[in-house]
Amino acid sequence: MLGLVKEILIILRYSLMRKLKSKWLFSEEFYRNGVELLPKKIDRISTTKLRTFIDTAIEDKGTNLWTDDLGSDVRIYGAEGIFPEIEMLLPIDEMRKKGESYLSQKLPYHFVLAAKLQHKVGNLGSGGGWHRDSPFTPQFKFIAYLSDVSFQNGPFEYIPKSHTSLNKLNSKFNLDKMRYTAEEVNKQWGDKSTVVIGGEGSILIADTKGLHRGSPIQNGERYACTVYFFSKEKNMQSFSNFLQRA
Ligand SMILES: [Fe+2]
Repeated sequence: MLGLVKEILIILRYSLMRKLKSKWLFSEEFYRNGVELLPKKIDRISTTKLRTFIDTAIEDKGTNLWTDDLGSDVRIYGAEGIFPEIEMLLPIDEMRKKGESYLSQKLPYHFVLAAKLQHKVGNLGSGGGWHRDSPFTPQFKFIAYLSDVSFQNGPFEYIPKSHTSLNKLNSKFNLDKMRYTAEEVNKQWGDKSTVVIGGEGSILIADTKGLHRGSPIQNGERYACTVYFFSKEKNMQSFSNFLQRA
């Protein structure tokens, strides 16, 4: 019951505010589906620099790395703390404006998660399987593809429209549920997932309230930067142990 009240408040707060806006900085496709790929947003010189930074930082013993149990997903949270140039190589302000338009609020805080994802036997893919980043509040994130993303090397997978309150209310799951098994997703949404493949330099934007995962990596590797935006500095605090210190 409490979940239903929260979901209704979200409809009132976000959907109506967006509808009342005369100018959107995000597309109709993104609004409807919760995910969109923007091709060729970053040039090759920048993606090469970013991949080199990731490889170098992974080798450096001083980097505050996070890895999954298999070593398939290696992450550098708050990469700007040790590589300030990253702020110039990614179109952070352009994406921030899209996010602010979508969420109808200022997003003055952010950090960059730079990652290398590699095939290891038994890997679950980035994010550890199907989940929502938040059960009720819409989220805005962008992922910069620093290498080509194919069906094999663990592409982002999303259930279109699963960010909407209507889609949640039509499912049989509790409204506050955040993690889902592959069987649960298959039963409820069948083959409705979208696998977002794309070329090096593309940018994926997503409302990660919607159901998503990094597909398990069948072979190869990929490099990516994900930018997390926040309206309040205190909301970044839950990541403080993972961030880099300059
Ligand atoms: Fe996620």
